Amino acid sequence: MSAQRKDDHVRLAIEQQHTRSGINEFDEVSFVHHALAGIDRPDVSLATAFAGISWQAPLYINAMTGGSVNTGVINRDLAIAARETGVPIASGSLNAYFKDPSCADTFRVLRQENPDGFVMANVNATASVDNARRGIDLLQADALQIHLNTAQETAMPEGDRSFASWVPQIEKIAAAVDVPVIVKEVGNGLSRETVLTLQNLGVRVADVSGRGGTDFARIENGRRELADYAFLHGWGQSTAACLLDAQGVGIPVLASGGVRNPLDAARALALGACAVGASGGFLRTLLDGGVPALVAQITTWLDQLTALQTMLGARTPADLTRCDLLIHGALRSFCADRGIETRRFAQRSSSLEALNEMTGSTR
Ligand code: FNR
Repeated sequence: MSAQRKDDHVRLAIEQQHTRSGINEFDEVSFVHHALAGIDRPDVSLATAFAGISWQAPLYINAMTGGSVNTGVINRDLAIAARETGVPIASGSLNAYFKDPSCADTFRVLRQENPDGFVMANVNATASVDNARRGIDLLQADALQIHLNTAQETAMPEGDRSFASWVPQIEKIAAAVDVPVIVKEVGNGLSRETVLTLQNLGVRVADVSGRGGTDFARIENGRRELADYAFLHGWGQSTAACLLDAQGVGIPVLASGGVRNPLDAARALALGACAVGASGGFLRTLLDGGVPALVAQITTWLDQLTALQTMLGARTPADLTRCDLLIHGALRSFCADRGIETRRFAQRSSSLEALNEMTGSTR
């Protein structure tokens, strides 16, 4: 059952990649163009550091799979691409391994192919502390991801709808394991309230994984005989909305969910993300063109992100948070209703401050 579900997820996620609506709230975030803001490309670094973690670039392959023969092959290829490009990688949920240890190799391959890389083990919020430790050991993981997926479990034919234990369980795991704990959604987003709760539970990092890309309510509905949960398609907040919502929270935030290209990555970093993850899009590239295609895509993204930072005058990814941003459309309404001041995003660059000093403007 579990192995079949893993294969279904891959098939339906890829189907979604081919029929994507194209609606993505990253399109409602634009940079103010300052024609003299540019710097020299050699002065740009992609390095990012947060919660004691240091990555050479702010991009990672987010959680996907493992647990069946087919997904073991996918994990092997993802791991090779991660190794060749130096980006971090997460496993899919290790629940399949806890239920049936005979599929261990389909996950362990992530470490075997990528011995020196940054690998994250992924569990659900009902995992016991012992199982969380087993998952970390299996992958010799550098961090632990715990996923939150109420919309997925709700639409999943065989879903588990007991959510009340998640909060105490996350707190127990966060206190017990030796690696940083990252709590993530699976494409429906984390609200500010959720991120603040996670912070109080001792979670080190939140990955908002919002709406805009892979839609797990749609995937699970596609596995239902009657497909009677179509009303849950598109549930949740977009990744851009989540990043705006999480401004000023006390823990580092990562961005995933519907990141389509290097400009979306730059937008997410400018909205405060410490790094940006992608899943469905990378999987599609891998299945269409194999490891060389995925390596080429990641290499291009890193090159083009460097180019964007150069044009925008951002020596580091964190410097993008000083670039001026305009927030449009539905995202602007979201901000108005959630009490998020959009004007300050449009007027935050040091060049504007300097300009104000020069001209005596008090704006
Ligand atoms: C996922 N995702 C996921 N997340 C998680 O925490 N554990 C998991 O086991 C899985 N499994 C999984 C399978 C497949 C085939 C896909 C495409 C995705 C969710 C993933 O990590 C991410 O949060 C969402 O997919 C949103 O990102 P994208 O796909 O829009 O870039």
